[in-house]
Amino acid sequence: MPIMKVIPIHEAAAPALAPATGQPPAAGELLSDRRGRHVRDLRISVTDRCNFRCIYCMPREVFGDDHAFLPRRELLSFEEILRVARLFVAHGVRKIRITGGEPLLRKDIERLIGMLARLDGVEVTLTTNGVLLPRLAQRLKNAGLHRVTVSLDALDDALFRRMNDADYPVEKVLEGIEAARSAGLGPIKINMVVKRGTNDSDIEAMAGHFRHSGHILRFIEFMDVGASNGWKMDEVLPSREVIARIDRLFPLEAIDPNYEGEVAERWRYKDGGGEIGVISSVTQAFCSSCTRIRLSTEGKLYTCLFAQAGHDLRALLRKGADDALLDAAIASVWQQREDRYSEIRTAQTAALRKIEMSYIGG
Ligand code: GTP
Ligand code: 5AD
Ligand code: SF4
Ligand code: SF4
Repeated sequence: MPIMKVIPIHEAAAPALAPATGQPPAAGELLSDRRGRHVRDLRISVTDRCNFRCIYCMPREVFGDDHAFLPRRELLSFEEILRVARLFVAHGVRKIRITGGEPLLRKDIERLIGMLARLDGVEVTLTTNGVLLPRLAQRLKNAGLHRVTVSLDALDDALFRRMNDADYPVEKVLEGIEAARSAGLGPIKINMVVKRGTNDSDIEAMAGHFRHSGHILRFIEFMDVGASNGWKMDEVLPSREVIARIDRLFPLEAIDPNYEGEVAERWRYKDGGGEIGVISSVTQAFCSSCTRIRLSTEGKLYTCLFAQAGHDLRALLRKGADDALLDAAIASVWQQREDRYSEIRTAQTAALRKIEMSYIGG
C-alpha cells in the first residue's frame, strides 16, 4: 500500500504546558514521575534534517525534495538549549545525548558540545550516521564529547545503499567509525536496526565484522515510531532470535547491565571477542525503568519516544520566562508523566499519528 502523503510530521498544536501541581520542587531536587521514575537522560535533537533517508525512519515518499523541514528561526539556539539542560542537570540528569536527524549537520555543533560538556557531572554523547565523522571527530573530541554511537544497518554495500536510500556506501560509515576511534571517542557503539526480510541476512556478517574490534554492536528491534515507516509486527525480528543466530556461530553468554535501566541487554563472546547488545523495545519493553526525556529541535519536551504531542518550552523561553518559571514547567511535565507505550503497544496504538523519530530525536 502506498504511504499516505499528508502526515503531521510536526504536530499542529502542542498542548499548553500543564500548570504545576502541588509544591514546586526545589532546584536540585530529584524529580519523580507518576510511576516513581527519575529523570536521568536528556536527549536533545538539534536538527530535523538528515543526509540519509533510512527506509524505517525518513522514507522518501514522505521526506522527499518538497518536504518542509523546520526553518532556522524555529530551532532552539545553543544558548536556549543550554538553559534547559542546566535546569535538568540540577534535577539529576547525568547523560545528555545529542541526536537528530543527523546532528552533525547542525552548524557549529562542536560549540554546543563544548557548552554542555562544561556542565558538572554530565556525560555528553552523540548518535550519528557517521559520514561526517572523518571531518568532525577530532573537533568534537576537543570540544569535550565523551562518546559516539554510529548507526550502520548492513555490511553488504548494495543492501546498505537500499536501507539509507541516499546511495551512501558502507565504506563511508566505516571511515567515520575509524575516525571516531582515532579521535578517542570510544568505546563506540554501533546501532543496527533489524528489519526482518530486509537486512536480517546481514546479522552474522555484522557480528563477524565487529568481533574483536573493541566496538559494541547493538541490534535494535524495528519500532513503530512516527507515522510514516509502514511498521508491521511481522517485520520485527525478536532479539532472542538474533542472539540464537549469533550464538550458533560465535558462542555467547549474558552479562550484567552497566547501570539500572540500561536499554540494551548485554552479551559477550565466550572466546573474548568482545561485547554485543540487543535493544528489544517491542518484545521486552523497558518502560518501567525509563528515565529519558527528549527536547525536540524546536524546543518541545516529549516524555516518551512514542508521544503524540510535546510541551512547548520555546514559547516560555522566548517570552522571557526566568529560570524559576522554566524550572517549574519542566518539573511539572516530568511529575505528570505516566508513559509506558512499549508495554501497551497494540496494532491500534501502532497506527496512531506519533511524532517522527527524526524530529523528536532517537
Ligand atoms: P548508552 O547506554 O549511553 O550507550 O545509550 P543507550 O543504550 O541508551 O543507547 P542509545 O541512546 O543509542 O539508544 C539506542 C536505541 O535504543 C535508540 O536509537 C532507540 O532505537 C532505542 N531507544 C533508546 N531509548 C529508547 C526509549 O526510551 N524507548 C524506546 N522504545 N526505545 C529507545
Ligand atoms: N526502529 C528502531 N530504531 C530506529 N532508529 C530510527 N528509527 C528506528 C525505528 N523505526 C534508530 C536508528 C539510530 C537511532 C537514531 O534510532 O538506527 O540508531
Ligand atoms: Fe537519518 Fe538516523 Fe533517521 Fe537514518 S535513522 S534517516 S541516519 S536520522
Ligand atoms: Fe520510555 Fe516511552 Fe520508550 Fe517506554 S516507550 S521506554 S516510556 S520512551
